[in-house]
Amino acid sequence: MVDITFYQRMDDKPSRPREWISRFVLGMAGETLFLMALGSATRVMNAGLACPDWPLCYGALVPQKQMNLQVFLEWFHRLTASSMGLFAIALVGFCWWYRRNLPKWAPWISLLVLFLVVFQGILGAFTVTELLRFDIVTAHLGTALLFFMTLLSMGVALQPYQGTGTAGKLHLVAAIAAICVYIQSILGALVGSQWALHQCLSDSTLCGVMHSHLAGVIPATLTTLTLTVWAWRTPALHPSLRRLANFAGSLLVLQIALGVATFKLRLQVEPLTIAHQSIGAGLLGVLVTFAVLAFRDVASPATVILPTADSPIDSVSMSPAIAHPADGHPA
Ligand code: HEM
Repeated sequence: MVDITFYQRMDDKPSRPREWISRFVLGMAGETLFLMALGSATRVMNAGLACPDWPLCYGALVPQKQMNLQVFLEWFHRLTASSMGLFAIALVGFCWWYRRNLPKWAPWISLLVLFLVVFQGILGAFTVTELLRFDIVTAHLGTALLFFMTLLSMGVALQPYQGTGTAGKLHLVAAIAAICVYIQSILGALVGSQWALHQCLSDSTLCGVMHSHLAGVIPATLTTLTLTVWAWRTPALHPSLRRLANFAGSLLVLQIALGVATFKLRLQVEPLTIAHQSIGAGLLGVLVTFAVLAFRDVASPATVILPTADSPIDSVSMSPAIAHPADGHPA
């Protein structure tokens, strides 16, 4: 009987440094998600200027005398962000040192990660010195999301993955959905940084900003749901891709529910607003992860192991006919 097994291409073979650098990068992505939630908490608790100077807080590394919840949030946000800067420097060092074990693009992406973290630090400084100017606060969230997406893409691209070659155009659908959710997040940041909901409800100003965020729900929803449904209807899709597509659909529903609750309760419940920001970033992360894995699925089709006369197994490229068995599952 023919033994059909899915194998990675040779250049996808995991190596030790590649594996732990991937885990390190994904750990940084997880810390970024936490940092963004902390940033959101800092904003909704009106703690953005709780440390009036930068980079120190009240001229000290640890402002013991002035410490209260607001100072703690802003100070802890800065502390976590500084650790991210150190991790980014370490990542560049690791990637260049082990460059022979990594794909050619990896050291260059590590430099992009370092550039983004430095740029983010400069924006963070301006956020304080320019007294929370809305465009700078928005750019700060926009860069944080770019940084998060870069880390996730790099970490996922370095993970061992055995494609099934069945994802078709799903990577494009996921990429378009990710762009829509990214734009929607920037619109949300514009609402948050200008307190547009309050302004619109109290004196009918900035309603355009609020309405643009409400309208932005449509493309973000349509593209994410297209991905989920398309994934359901794709036979023999890799189980990880199937799970990610379902997860994206669920996060979208949760995100819309949180948005409606934030809106109806007029930002009275801070944890809801923080959750709205965090789930939005989580949804973006799932879409980016899907796009990268689906791209790898297409770029490195699976191989089939066939027994031959002189060697028990030999590998040949898998034909689409085998990749799409009628029962909808890989053989
Ligand atoms: C895919 C759907 C959505 C995404 C990705 C999204 C994303 C975001 C993001 C990233 C923020 C900025 C949060 C912050 O700066 O802390 C935000 C703010 C906001 N969003 Fe959404 N949102 C979505 C749907 C909705 C919906 C359906 C509503 C209401 C009907 C809504 C209402 C709000 C409000 C009121 C704010 C301002 C919160 C504040 O002032 O702190 N969002 N959104």
